[in-house]
Amino acid sequence: MNSGRVKVGIVGLDDMLGGGLIPESICAVIGTYGTGKTTFSLEFVWDGLKKEEKVIYISLEERQERIVEYMRLKGWDVTPYLNTALFVIKLDPTDFNLANNRIKNELPRLIEQVGATRVVIDPISLFEDLFTTDSERRQEMFHFIEGLRDKKCTIMMTSETDKDNVFSSRHGLIEYLSDTVILLRYVRPSDLTDVHLALEVVKMRMSAHSREIKPYEIQQDQVLVYSEANVF
Ligand SMILES: Nc1ncnc2c1ncn2[C@@H]1O[C@H](COP(=O)(O)OP(=O)(O)O)[C@@H](O)[C@H]1O
Ligand SMILES: [Mg+2]
Repeated sequence: MNSGRVKVGIVGLDDMLGGGLIPESICAVIGTYGTGKTTFSLEFVWDGLKKEEKVIYISLEERQERIVEYMRLKGWDVTPYLNTALFVIKLDPTDFNLANNRIKNELPRLIEQVGATRVVIDPISLFEDLFTTDSERRQEMFHFIEGLRDKKCTIMMTSETDKDNVFSSRHGLIEYLSDTVILLRYVRPSDLTDVHLALEVVKMRMSAHSREIKPYEIQQDQVLVYSEANVF
């Protein structure tokens, strides 16, 4: 059942996905700050590097040094991979023209040039924020993501949640444009003693997947999904 899937690299999550992501599909990881979106995307990067794949990491938040350092803390030395197998692009989320040009023109070219099989955009919501109107955002995002579909790579985009709805991405768009949607959130039991993290696979086109909500924990060196446990 696992054959032919692109693993995220988080064991319990890959199980919930029926073995991993569908090759060349687009996955959205949606969650509020601190739920582990960047961590999940770095697991996906490392899994690819281990398999000698080429990976592009578009970062709208963290600088390359921070990403490398964060991975080093996890026990992964990515320095030998930099600019040979791992290509990090830091986009300035305040400069619309530059970010828009790099993501729309440079990214598709770079994917082909380096033969990238995995691409991360973390977080796409900061890019989406740059559009001035909803209709422009919808149209541009649609074209951008459809353009990426022609590429031979599996894409993971992360997004902050909407401020009023933890089940929706900030602009409510990428969940429709993605093939797979993974939702990360905090769960506060009624006794308010503790805060837990829980994830669910909300959507996965063309595949069976688990619909259960599973607790997970971010540890120093790994993400643990407790696929045997129940949150509720
Ligand atoms: N080395 C670590 N050990 C344990 N927990 C960590 C470690 N690094 C990060 N975390 C946890 O992960 C959270 C941040 O995850 P991150 O992937 O940056 O979230 P997001 O991108 O969704 O904001 C932190 O708030 C912390 O709780
Ligand atoms: Mg982050």
